[in-house]
Amino acid sequence: MSRPFLDDIFHGLAILTILLAAATKAHGDTIVHVLNGLPKGSQALQNDFKSNDTSIPIIRKIMGAGEEYHWKVEGGVEYTCFSVWTSNFQKWTVFEPRRDQNHADVFWVVKEDGFYRSWDNKTWVKKAEWESE
Ligand SMILES: *[C@@H]1O[C@H](CO)[C@@H](O)[C@H](O)[C@H]1NC(C)=O
Ligand SMILES: *[C@@H]1O[C@H](CO)[C@@H](O)[C@H](O)[C@H]1NC(C)=O
Repeated sequence: MSRPFLDDIFHGLAILTILLAAATKAHGDTIVHVLNGLPKGSQALQNDFKSNDTSIPIIRKIMGAGEEYHWKVEGGVEYTCFSVWTSNFQKWTVFEPRRDQNHADVFWVVKEDGFYRSWDNKTWVKKAEWESE
């Protein structure tokens, strides 16, 4: 085998390594967006976002109608949310690694009739409804 041939192999491997690293990193970088789509002027929505990594503190967000909150999730960490609005409550899965990590964004809208998810900010699927006591 000639020297240039080996150089090509090493060059190819180096490029492959860089591409794999980029692909792996992309998997860890999903932005989760949560929008309060409840009627204007209605009582604030309380969201407690909790991960399954105990070193990450619970994030409590009191959100007015029309308010959005987003953050970047790290790969492998699952997030649930406990939401309270008027006399309604619900616990829902905001980010599930196996389900969501191949998407650059996960969008949620919280409405009067439930919790809607989208991956493109256009097509929405209702994933949960409010419970009340
Ligand atoms: C969090 O949940 C994911 C699966 O959704 C799992 O792969 C991961 O190991 C969990 N992390 C901890 C710290 O339990
Ligand atoms: C999602 O769509 C809404 C309404 O069309 C828009 O205001 C918002 O900026 C979009 N978010 C992103 C991150 O593109």
